[in-house]
Formats: sequence, structure tokens, C-alpha cells
Amino acid sequence: MNPSYGPGGLVTDASAATEIADEATVEVQAPAAVDEVVVLDYGGQYSQVIARRIRECGVFSELLPHHVGPDEVARRRPKGLILSGGPASVHADGAPALDPRLLELDIPVLGICYGMQLLAHALGGQVQPADDAEYGRADLRVLEPGRLFGGLPADQTCWMSHRDAVLRAPDGFTPLASSQASPVAAFESLERGIWGIQFHPEVSHTPFGRDILDAWLRGVCGADMAWTAASVIEDQVQRIRAQVGEGRVICGLSGGVDSSVAALLVHRAIGDQLTCVFVDHGLMRKNEGEQVVASFRDRFKIVLRAVDAEDRFLARLAGVSDPEAKRKAIGGEFIRVFEEEAAHIGNARFLVQGTLYSDVIESGGGTGTATIKSHHNVGGLPEDLEFELIEPLRALFKDEVRAVGAELGLDERLVWRQPFPGPGLAIRVVGGEATKQRLDLLRDADSILQDEIRRAGLYRELWQSFCVLPDVRTVGVQGDERTYGAVIVIRAVTSDDAMTADWARLPYDLLQRIASRMINRLPEVNRVVLDITSKPPGTIEWE
Ligand code: XMP
Repeated sequence: MNPSYGPGGLVTDASAATEIADEATVEVQAPAAVDEVVVLDYGGQYSQVIARRIRECGVFSELLPHHVGPDEVARRRPKGLILSGGPASVHADGAPALDPRLLELDIPVLGICYGMQLLAHALGGQVQPADDAEYGRADLRVLEPGRLFGGLPADQTCWMSHRDAVLRAPDGFTPLASSQASPVAAFESLERGIWGIQFHPEVSHTPFGRDILDAWLRGVCGADMAWTAASVIEDQVQRIRAQVGEGRVICGLSGGVDSSVAALLVHRAIGDQLTCVFVDHGLMRKNEGEQVVASFRDRFKIVLRAVDAEDRFLARLAGVSDPEAKRKAIGGEFIRVFEEEAAHIGNARFLVQGTLYSDVIESGGGTGTATIKSHHNVGGLPEDLEFELIEPLRALFKDEVRAVGAELGLDERLVWRQPFPGPGLAIRVVGGEATKQRLDLLRDADSILQDEIRRAGLYRELWQSFCVLPDVRTVGVQGDERTYGAVIVIRAVTSDDAMTADWARLPYDLLQRIASRMINRLPEVNRVVLDITSKPPGTIEWE
């Protein structure tokens, strides 16, 4: 995430993009009684995707730095071990090496791309730069189905991304497939329990990738495909009960999917021992505050302290136009209001946080107790709050959080809510003070945009879609009169992780409808413009 959000900045539901932690073991508590496959990360760009695909097949999977060592792997008693891709050549100085003890754990091993080359190199095969590098789509010819390709076509497409190739498999290994630049594009040794594939089964451009992973998990590892949203709920409910006992728990609800699902899970486990706090800072979108209250208090019967703190926040924002000063003002006030509310709850020992697995990987792990990281989801809480954390989403990717939310009965709207920044609409009133009047105008414009985007069926396809109100006025003519009115900017982006983004190609007729509705309904507005900047060079938000 943008480092400038820092302490005091509020935090979004967007799971921040991930980088592989190199220094620490990334610790999550694997669910009891479900099978696990460990993925060792050698730095490949798709490593996290491998873990996600394995989970989609119904097997829990953790991504660990490649150097954790065999004991860490064995401790998890996995059903299988995957060695990921990576950017290095096995011949390069300092390239991550294969710890041979990993092959003595008596579990099936699957090397993917660099992982396969590591295996080939270590076991006496030949790995060399191929005449042609293979990047992108490639034709794969299956020579021998082995355990991976049974029932699949002999000719198929796959996704490659490599320069080195396995020219000769190690002795005792059976080559299973080849491509133009990869004489050995897959191999197996039943005797040693080792498989390798040069291509990437985890990406969607490999049409039979899922079947191949499934065949390995089921047929080779004998994994029980029991990892589902329902099993996550069951497991977490047990854990939360064991952790909390009779204690009291607080959860800061933002209305975003992470804090909502975390709250529901904890409520499922301990009912009224949980009190949620929802600070309505008056910077939410239209009707959002009411929806949170209706959903959690009325529907799920959760004890909820909803604080209408709009006046306090507006007072703090008066005269503030610098973006970082706005963030600080909002963050500071948020902490104050939250602490006041927490004091009313009395002797609460635990605090729920919607930390996701991608946050865990990104921050290099940790044990999840005692202190609170300022960038996590409750929103800029200070580090010295003495709560013990409950992090029921710590092992989950965002899509799994959504599945758990749906399973728990969370409204579809909340399950699929686009990320929304903690400081809310205040940082979308750009270049000027976020006054009540401006925020109301922006809220109205935003509600028209959301409505049209939902009607067009595009809401889920967009990472974020919102309006910006810059502090400028422009000349227009409406009726026979000259106007000098507000400009509304439409910002809609596609993205996977908010680190990069592209502007969404919204259909012209949709844009036309949005612009007309805004101009016709909002007398202050006389111009609607579209932001066509990608990230980089722009950021998603305007300030
Ligand atoms: P940018 O604008 O940096 O945004 O491309 C990346 C993602 O972060 C969100 N964002 C914020 N989230 N507090 C937050 O909690 C903030 O101050 C903040 N600023 C930006 C933004 O909406 C996008 O999802």
C-alpha cells in the first residue's frame, strides 16, 4: 500500500498487493483436520496463484519462503510439497538452491517451472538455456499420461514463461510431455515420488491446468478435498471459542467485506460476547451507514454501537485541504471515537481484525498477538492498544473471505463491495476542504454512478468505480443561462491488487446515461468528465 497512509491514515478493505516475505516464516494456523499442501516460494510471479488454485481444488495450501527448511515443512504434515517458479537460472550465482532434505520427507513433490529445473539439476538431469525462450502460449504434446495427464488430450495449450529448459530428465524419470522449446516439459518418477512441469498449470491460460493439479492432489497425494467455506467456518468457530473463553470482544466494523465477515464469524462463535463498533464519520457513500446498521444490528442481531460522529469529523476537517493532513485528521479522530466507545464496553480483552492471508504474506508473518499494525483493517488504531487480536481471516485470500461471507448469509452487496478507502469521500473532494455541502454533492453523484454501473451489470468487474469532485468550477450553458458550476470526474478502474490499474472501458451509452443523470438531477453540476489514466502513472484515488 501507499506508504504515506502510515499511522493515523485509515485503512481500506482492498487487500494490499503481496510481495513474498523473505525473512520470516509466514505463520497461519492451518485448519485442524483438513489436508494441506505446502508451496515453497522461489520468487515466481505466480506463486501465490498456485496456493489459491490448490485451495480452489479443495485442499488447504500455504505459501512459505523457499528457505524455511524441511522441519518447517514437515511440521505441517502436508500431503504434498510444491516448488514454485522463480526468476533465476539454476546455474546463476546465488540462485535459490534445493535443500535435498526436502526430498526425504516422504511426501510427493511437484516442481513447477524453476521448481522443475531445480529438481532436474539436483538429480542429474540437464538444464540449459533453450534455443528459444518460451513466453506465453505454447503447444504441449503429451508423450505419456503418467499420473498427471490421464484422460486429457494429447495436444493441448499451456502457458510458459522460461528461458532455461530441461533438455534431459534425470535417470529413472519418465518424460511426460514436450513443447517446441522444452524437450522435457513434464516428468515423473513414481519410485521417488517426484513430478515436474515446465509450464504454469495455475494460470487460466493453461486450459487443463486445474485438471493437472487436481490429478496430482487426488491421485498422487491422496488429499481429501475438504477445504470449503463451510469447513473454514466450523474450524474458526472452534478456535475463536477456545481463544476467547468467557472474555469480551470488540470489533471495529467499517462496512467493508473483511471486517464484516470477521465480525460475523466471531459472532457465530461467541454471540453476545462480541460488541461491534461502527464509527460513521459522515464520509461514507449514500445510505451506507444505515445499511451497516440494518444488516448487523437488525438482521444478524449483533450488539452494535453505531456512533454518528459526522459533526466531529467535519469539525476536524474544517479548513483542511492538504490530502495527508486530511488523512491525519480523520485517523486521529477515528482513534479518539473508537477509544471512547471501547471504554463503554468495559473489560474487553480481545479485538477482532480482518487481516487477510495476503497481508500476512506481505508483512512476513508474526504471531498475531499483542500489538496492532497500523495498516490493518480496523483503521489506524495505535500500536499501544493492549488487546489480544482475533484474526479469523488470517489464512484466507480475498475470494475465500467472500465465499465465507456468502456462506454466513452476508448480503450480496456487502460480499461484493468494492474497496473503499478509510478516509472515505474526504479524499475525493480534491484540492479543497471537504465540507458537508461538497460531500453531499459528491455522495449524490456517486450514488448515480453506482446505480448505473450496477444496472449495467459491471459492478463486480470493476476493482473500483467512484466520483471525484475537484475544487474547480467551469462555465456552462443550461436553458438559456450561463452557469458556473461543479465538475464531476468519473473514475473506474480494473485491477487485481490496486498496485497497478487500468482505466475501465465503460460503454459510451452507459457514460452518456451517467452524465445526463448527473447533470439533470444535480443542479450544481454542469460538466462530467472521465479519467482515462492508468496506474502508473496515476494513482487510483486523486489524492
Ligand atoms: P492509490 O490511490 O494509491 O490507491 O492508487 C490504492 C488503493 O488504496 C486505497 N486508498 C486508501 N485506503 N486509506 C485507505 O484505507 C487511504 O488513505 C487510502 N488512499 C487510497 C484506494 O482506494 C485503492 O483501493
